[in-house]
Amino acid sequence: MIIAIDGPAGSGKSSTAKAVAAELGFRHLDSGALYRAITWAALEADLPVEEWMQLDARTLDSLDVRSIPAPYRFDVAVRGRIVGDEIRSPEVNAHVSRMAAIPAVREWLLGALREAGRSGQLVADGRDIGTVVFPDADLKLFLVCAPEERARRRLREQGITDDPADEVRREAARLQGRDEIDSGRAVAPLLPASDAVVIDTTELTFREQVDSIVELARSAGA
Ligand code: CDP
Repeated sequence: MIIAIDGPAGSGKSSTAKAVAAELGFRHLDSGALYRAITWAALEADLPVEEWMQLDARTLDSLDVRSIPAPYRFDVAVRGRIVGDEIRSPEVNAHVSRMAAIPAVREWLLGALREAGRSGQLVADGRDIGTVVFPDADLKLFLVCAPEERARRRLREQGITDDPADEVRREAARLQGRDEIDSGRAVAPLLPASDAVVIDTTELTFREQVDSIVELARSAGA
């Protein structure tokens, strides 16, 4: 069984997918982490951003980004080292959508993502999981959430808890900037699959959104 969870930036896909996978005893695949790792590796390797459009499979191979199966998840390794928070830096945030819009990059990752689904029992999250990566997924969810609430959750994640309004506005603008690039790109744009269940999480607690997906998964046979 494969469960696909897509949605815009900061809609809570990854944390939700992880919790749903834990509840079902499935494995979680965070596809965004791979786009982030490629972006981080390209920045580390000082590949000039204006030349990213010309990236080919050989150069991508040389960045040595891999998805490594681990119990209940996949780790992401760059040059043999498992990466963590460095792929979530403001610099990676600012560049990842440009990297993810490059057709050669998406093509390069598609095989690795599909490989992760071969043993089944997977909850995968991203932007095009239900449309391109696993169009035959057993259950597809598309999470949406008001931009200001997404910004507040992101800031809370970073330990910023006192919510000054202009900080929330700035973060919301950053998230929406990424959404615009992700939705506007020619290849695999961010959009709900025609058979996806759309869940608006703006008014839901984390527990409520996880429970509602687990319930849908159970009805679908998980
Ligand atoms: O967690 P957050 O919403 O910040 O984003 P993410 O899932 O970590 O993904 C980071 C970026 O990778 C997105 O803004 C997209 O540009 C790209 N991405 C994609 O194009 N396709 C996917 N399946 C997953 C991520």
